[in-house]
Amino acid sequence: MHDPKLRALVESARAAREHAYAPYSKFRVGAAVLTDAGNVHVGCNVENASYGATICAERAAVFRMVASGETRIVAVAIYVDEPEPAMPCGMCRQVIAEFGQDVTIITAGRDLVKESTIATLLPDAFVLRP
Ligand code: THU
Repeated sequence: MHDPKLRALVESARAAREHAYAPYSKFRVGAAVLTDAGNVHVGCNVENASYGATICAERAAVFRMVASGETRIVAVAIYVDEPEPAMPCGMCRQVIAEFGQDVTIITAGRDLVKESTIATLLPDAFVLRP
């Protein structure tokens, strides 16, 4: 991963993770979305005592992007403070796919960074009446 923009995106995800609210799982996640306009929207996981109301970092970041008036994703970075990266859950993959098929996904841990695309991670995504 040599692109300085993507490196900076991982750093934004790492910083967003600091705000994660994960008292139940203790698994803190940060995400950062880069849009075609060059803007970055960050998110973190926010857990809830009901468990089911928890939102992942990736969806928090994407929803923040939409609320800011943007809908075109270029890349998403996800950071966890573990040796290996964590891959986005299925629900987050579907939400990312809603806003672009040509999306680069960077998953980063302390010792390893992986690069993929949303099309690879979610082939044949659900679409309403294709
Ligand atoms: N989590 C994320 O933030 N992103 C994912 O893609 C998978 C899981 C969060 C949800 C929950 O707060 C914690 O990680 C443990 O599942």
